[in-house]
Amino acid sequence: MQTITIDTITQAVIDHGDGGKTHPRLYEIYTSLVKHLHAFVREVNLTEPELQQGRDFLNRGSHHTQVIPDGEIQMLTDLLGISMLVELLKDSNGDVTEANLEGPLYVPNSPQRKLGDRIGIDAEGEPLFLSGRVLDVDGHAIANALIEVWQPNSKGLYDIIDPSQPAGNFRGQLHTDENGNYSFETVVPSGYNIPNDGPCGEVLRLLGRHTWRAAHIHFKLSATGYTPLTTQIFIDSDPLLDSDTTFTVRSTIIKLQKHKSLPELEAQNQNKPFYSAQFDFVLKPIVTAREVQPVNPLFEVT
Ligand SMILES: [Fe+2]
Repeated sequence: MQTITIDTITQAVIDHGDGGKTHPRLYEIYTSLVKHLHAFVREVNLTEPELQQGRDFLNRGSHHTQVIPDGEIQMLTDLLGISMLVELLKDSNGDVTEANLEGPLYVPNSPQRKLGDRIGIDAEGEPLFLSGRVLDVDGHAIANALIEVWQPNSKGLYDIIDPSQPAGNFRGQLHTDENGNYSFETVVPSGYNIPNDGPCGEVLRLLGRHTWRAAHIHFKLSATGYTPLTTQIFIDSDPLLDSDTTFTVRSTIIKLQKHKSLPELEAQNQNKPFYSAQFDFVLKPIVTAREVQPVNPLFEVT
């Protein structure tokens, strides 16, 4: 019989099983997690009431709510920087556009748009004409690349959480032309507060952390022969660039150019000042079987 002590309990937990014979990757992750969790408990000398608060936090965070139908667990990993750390680990090629988190507000099959189309209605928004090219790593155009775009309006609200917006507002899918060009009209998006009425928001307030995301536009790109890209681009003038609460701001930042002269307004058929910006996306060719084949899940629950 093994006597459990403060010195033996961690290894006893790790050894309690088949040692990873059936699921080696799961065992690797589980073993490391147990070691780190036990080390954490020792380091902070966790008390029983604190452990119970932690249990309550996770229980409440996993509840489905109207605001967050899937619960707060994904948001928790975002707020702890874990989602972004996983993203950073898989991306080391500086020649291609940096990937970023998809976030919870992507909707497939968004409205089809033609090049140059306006993708949303927002009378109070500042118009933004965004254009650029989709290129390979050698600078060659990628024709007929699919670009999916989604963003909040000028109040920081997405259509699927704002009943005042029509479905598909500030969403769309379009294809590059034969020279890899894309263009569309939108509005300058606003940053927004993540849902902060639940347990995650409570803890952030206690830590003196704000709950704002910097203004951004989401993209998904795909083209035959290239690794699909999910990313976000940010606005260079946004005061939240240095403190986005999900730690997602990378180098994909656009600089807005303001246009307010009468000839410029007339040329774009605008009755108020507007902005323009350019951003080129660079995609990576598919080169490995791992990128072609879907990665198996860690385990399957039956
Ligand atoms: Fe977003």
